[in-house]
Amino acid sequence: MNQESKGNHLIFDGCDTVELAKQYKTPLYIVSETCIINKCREIHEDFLRKYKNTKAVYASKAFLNIEMCKLITREGLGLDVVSGGELYTAIKGNVPMKDVVFHGNNKSLDELKMAVSYDVGRIVVDNGYELQMLSQIAKEENKIVHILFRMTPGIDVKTHKYISTGQVDSKFGVPFQNNTLHDYVCEIEKMSHIKLEGFHFHIGSQLLDNEAHLMALEVLLNLIKDLRDTIGFETSEINLGGGFGIPYTKEDEPRGIKYFIEPMMDKIYEKCQLHSLSIPQVVIEPGRWIVGEAGMTLYTMGSIKDIPGVRTYASVDGGMPDNPRPSLYNAKYEAVIANKYDKVEDEMVTIAGKCCESGDILIWDLKVPAVEPGDILAVMRTGAYNYSMSNNYNKLPRPAVIMVKEGNSRVVVRREMYEDLIRRDVLFNE
Ligand SMILES: Cc1ncc(COP(=O)(O)O)c(C=O)c1O
Repeated sequence: MNQESKGNHLIFDGCDTVELAKQYKTPLYIVSETCIINKCREIHEDFLRKYKNTKAVYASKAFLNIEMCKLITREGLGLDVVSGGELYTAIKGNVPMKDVVFHGNNKSLDELKMAVSYDVGRIVVDNGYELQMLSQIAKEENKIVHILFRMTPGIDVKTHKYISTGQVDSKFGVPFQNNTLHDYVCEIEKMSHIKLEGFHFHIGSQLLDNEAHLMALEVLLNLIKDLRDTIGFETSEINLGGGFGIPYTKEDEPRGIKYFIEPMMDKIYEKCQLHSLSIPQVVIEPGRWIVGEAGMTLYTMGSIKDIPGVRTYASVDGGMPDNPRPSLYNAKYEAVIANKYDKVEDEMVTIAGKCCESGDILIWDLKVPAVEPGDILAVMRTGAYNYSMSNNYNKLPRPAVIMVKEGNSRVVVRREMYEDLIRRDVLFNE
């Protein structure tokens, strides 16, 4: 993280966070452009330049807006979208459509039509129903649509069950068991307007070791061999999804992209050579790993309630609407007092949000210096799945998003106003 101190103030990518809070108000999402650029460059160095025929697409569900589309395109990555809304944003953000990968377990007819009409590079088909719809659309549009099929490798992973997606009992993809995928491949081979390029798995998110990815890859490579041996199908592309974890707390070990990629690429080369398979194009789709550490959220502290012998609640001006992850997954975050950054942390408080929910707690038992109303709390590593999961519960307006880089800051998403909260309400004259 681009984090340091000046006097008592926390500095992030060259910007004084206390000044940012004053200038742009709180709650406030801050995103370090430098951090995102460094991550993209690491992907270039340790993956794209190192191995031939590889591609990296950013999983936009982690954090998406027009500025992010531009930044990711500038940095030479593609974009993974999962809905018509994300695709619309990519279109408006001028992302080249050939570099877009369209996912989703229940894409609608309209979303598929949109993807086909814009010539999205890859559509990752999740199920047979979608395949039939897509085949029909492709025929009507008289286009050849290039697809991957999502398979569930049957791997249980070490993460929260809500972000675990590769097990057999999953709403995503088609299990590799019982020849189901063989049958689909045979069916697709007969389709005039669908070209199956290969397969995709995404086994879960926030994985801090590479065990599960390697197990899933083993299943996928066996499938590829089997399809070649039994029905002569040659796989030209595999997409290994995302899921690469980041350190949210001191207990989590930071992982470079190399940690995840190298053993997978070694395995691909080894297995393909062993079975005389041609090396397919390899695609990865990191989301959190690219943006998670680039984000920080600033809040202003309000009421500080000490319940003697129990705990002290320090409440902030945001909460579960701007960061649903603690209440959704029991996600852990670290935070500091941005205006007392150099002070000794000798007290303990629990950071409460302002929503009418007892579960609206951002951080339990945070060590802080003595705090008072008006202090600025900086919650670290909020770049992924915070802004993108934010909502207006209790009619709280969503915070602005500020991009910072080497001491400069600019608004990339403006703060919602009260008028925004009723903009879509239909008003009838009495
Ligand atoms: C298909 C697919 N690819 C990539 C990702 C990105 O995951 P992460 O942000 O953990 O890298 C997801 C997340 O849900 C996904 O569903």
